[in-house]
Amino acid sequence: MYLNLKKSHCLLLLVISLISVSSCYEDLYHNLDHFHTPTLYPPPFYFTNYKQNYYYHKPNSAHRRNYKNPLRASHLVIRPKVVNVDAFGAKADGRDDSKAFKRAWKEACSSTGTVLLVVPKNRDYVLKPITFSGPCRSNLAFKRCFNVKASNVLVTAPEYSPNTDGIHVTETQNILIKNSVIKTGDDCISIVSGSKNVRATGITCGPGHGISIGSLGARNSAAYVSNVVVDKARLSGTTNGVRIKTWQGGSGYAKNIIFQNVVMQNVSNPIIINQYYCDQEKPCPEQHPAVRISNVMYNNIRGSSASEDAIKLSCSKSFPCHGIWLQNIALGRQLLQEDNDQVARASCSNVGLVNRGIVYPRCSSKY
Ligand SMILES: *[C@@H]1O[C@H](CO)[C@@H](O)[C@H](O)[C@H]1NC(C)=O
Repeated sequence: MYLNLKKSHCLLLLVISLISVSSCYEDLYHNLDHFHTPTLYPPPFYFTNYKQNYYYHKPNSAHRRNYKNPLRASHLVIRPKVVNVDAFGAKADGRDDSKAFKRAWKEACSSTGTVLLVVPKNRDYVLKPITFSGPCRSNLAFKRCFNVKASNVLVTAPEYSPNTDGIHVTETQNILIKNSVIKTGDDCISIVSGSKNVRATGITCGPGHGISIGSLGARNSAAYVSNVVVDKARLSGTTNGVRIKTWQGGSGYAKNIIFQNVVMQNVSNPIIINQYYCDQEKPCPEQHPAVRISNVMYNNIRGSSASEDAIKLSCSKSFPCHGIWLQNIALGRQLLQEDNDQVARASCSNVGLVNRGIVYPRCSSKY
């Protein structure tokens, strides 16, 4: 893993042609406590408002790693280096600020340690389609943001780069992610707790782990995600397609979710709900509480599955999923030369399921 990281951390490309954010708020220093070991991992990357009104950052890799040892994380206090685009010549005078942003990005990327890229608030910067490129291992994250529109975002990170979610949405309301291409080693888009009214449309994903809601409910936490629409997506060669994942022992809900008009190509788990998610070395103990999943519509999803399990809905025994709709689903097995007679399967447990129109494969499900 060590070696992998070293090899893989230096390819990243972000192309952004439009991002507008009306506001985000974050207690920055509180959150920075979670980051650590800049020597081992390239700098967490922030894109921030100076007065903490908005920023994009790279949050989750360190969170996950520190999970086992919270002490190790909390004794570290990292003061980020601040790189303000204005200091690099951005004027917000209606003329093109792309060059200044590029210079600021370059400075930020070449620094070691935590970096904030600051975009002062209440100023309108004009950017041409712009390429921000490595060497920093990064992603784009929206945390505690309201009214965000991000379009034509291109994120590329290597397939074997761990914990590099393409676009991470957390505690954010009213966000539209449009016409974006994400190639990464982790989730292309991940939507986690506190997010509401999230729309992702025109998404091309792969390689990566697909489009995920969650994980939710880790460490017995309460999670709330609602009103999510993923519309018009193409996923190729990803380990998951559209996924909802929750840990045992959580609470709260994930509800009112639509995945539609999705084309899968050689995706290992095209449609998956996993309420027994466990991303740690020790097996997770059985716990009854669960984040409740309801009203999830899968509509017009077709393509090929790299594994037998094209549809796998594994809901909580104690709080079964309800209002799960499958409509116009056609998922076949990706043909392999050696065994091309394999068929795609569906397995469903603890699911209140409605099938509409053509649904293939179908769960032989009992509730
Ligand atoms: C499909 O995916 C599998 C496993 O991810 C991979 O081994 C195989 O080469 C892929 N096939 C094609 C045609 O891309």
